[in-house]
Amino acid sequence: MSDRSIMETQILTIREENRNDVIEKAARTLQEGKVVAIPTETVYGLAANALNSDAVKAIFEAKGRPFDNPMIVHVSNLVMLREIVENVPERAIALIKRFWPGPLTIVLPGVRAVSPFVTGSLDTVAVRMPSHPVAADIIEYSGFPLAAPSANLSGRPSPTTARHVMEDLGGLIPLIIDDGICQVGLESTVLSLADETPVILRPGMVTLSQIREILAETVYSDEVYSHIEKEERVLSPGLKYMHYSPRASVTVIEGTLEQFAEYARKNASHDTYAMCFDGEEIGIDIPSVSYGEQDRPDMQARRLFSALRAIDQFGATSVFVRCPSSEGESLAVYNRLVRAAGNRVIKL
Ligand code: TXA
Ligand code: MG
Repeated sequence: MSDRSIMETQILTIREENRNDVIEKAARTLQEGKVVAIPTETVYGLAANALNSDAVKAIFEAKGRPFDNPMIVHVSNLVMLREIVENVPERAIALIKRFWPGPLTIVLPGVRAVSPFVTGSLDTVAVRMPSHPVAADIIEYSGFPLAAPSANLSGRPSPTTARHVMEDLGGLIPLIIDDGICQVGLESTVLSLADETPVILRPGMVTLSQIREILAETVYSDEVYSHIEKEERVLSPGLKYMHYSPRASVTVIEGTLEQFAEYARKNASHDTYAMCFDGEEIGIDIPSVSYGEQDRPDMQARRLFSALRAIDQFGATSVFVRCPSSEGESLAVYNRLVRAAGNRVIKL
C-alpha cells in the first residue's frame, strides 16, 4: 500500500453468480466520475470516463503520471469510435476488421469529444477495443469510452493481476475489478496512422509482419528499433527510457546459458537475482526466477511483469536477465526488458 493512502480500496472478484452485479457496480462508479481498475486481455487498466476531464485527472493523480503522456481510449463498439474521431480512414477499418477486438491500439488524427487531458492536447487519439469480455461489458454498461493507462504507479511494471494493482494503487483508488491473470500479459501494440507511413510506436503481441499483411508499408519508429541496433548494444542507463522497472536494477545479458552462468558467478553480489528461462535454474549459481520457456514468447509475455515484481518481493537490489530473442513476438518482451534495464544490455 502506498504512503499517500487516502481511501479504502475495494476488490470485487468476478464469479459466475455475481458477474452482472460487479460489472454494474464498476459502471456506476465510473458514471460518478471515479476511477476503477479493470482487467483487460493485455494488462489491468486504470479506467475513467474519457469525456470527463475531472475523472481523467484523477487517473494522473493516482498513478503519479506526467500530464504530457497521453492515454489510450477504450471502446466497445464502432459507434463509440466514430464519436471520438472525425473520420475513420479506410486503412484503419482494414486493421479493425482483422485485429479488433484485441491488443492493437491505433493512433488516429481528428480527435473530438474526448478530454484534452486524455490526448495531452495532441490532435491525435489512441484507441483500442479490448477483447476481454469484462472490459467490453464495463464499457458497454457505462455508455462512454474509457481512458485507461496501465494500472501501475508510473514507471513500475504493468499489473497483470489484481494483486499487482493493489500493491501499487491500494489506498489511492476506490475499486479494483479482479478477473484473474491477464492472458496476453504485455501492453497492446501501438500503431500510429497520424502520418502517411504507418508507424509502430510500441511493439506488442500483434507483430509488424501481421500488420504488414494489411498495411505493407508499416515500419517501426526509431525508438523501438534503436534498441536492436548492434552498435548500441552497450549503452549507459538513460533515465528517459526507464520504465516497467522493479526497484532492483536490471541488466539484460545476451549470450549462451553457460556464458550467463559464468557472468553471474563473477559479478553477482549477495542480493543479486537471476531471471532465466524455465528449467535453467539448476545451471545458475545465484537465486533465480524463471519467466517462461526460451522459445515461447507468448509465455514470456504472460509472466514477465510478475517475475519483475517477484524480484522486488525477494528484496533483490540487482537482477541479471537472460536476453530473449528480438524477432517477431519476442521483440515486445525484449523491448520491455531493455526499457526496464534503462538500456543496460551486456553482450557476452
Ligand atoms: O494494453 C494496453 O495498451 C494497456 C491496456 C490497459 O489497454 N494500456 C496501456 O496504456 O498500456 P499506457 O498509458 O500505459 O500506454 C499508452 C501508450 C503510451 O506509450 C502513450 O505514450 C501512447 O500509448 N499514446 C497514447 N496516446 C497517444 C497519441 N495520441 N499519440 C502517440 N502515442 C500515444
Ligand atoms: Mg503504462
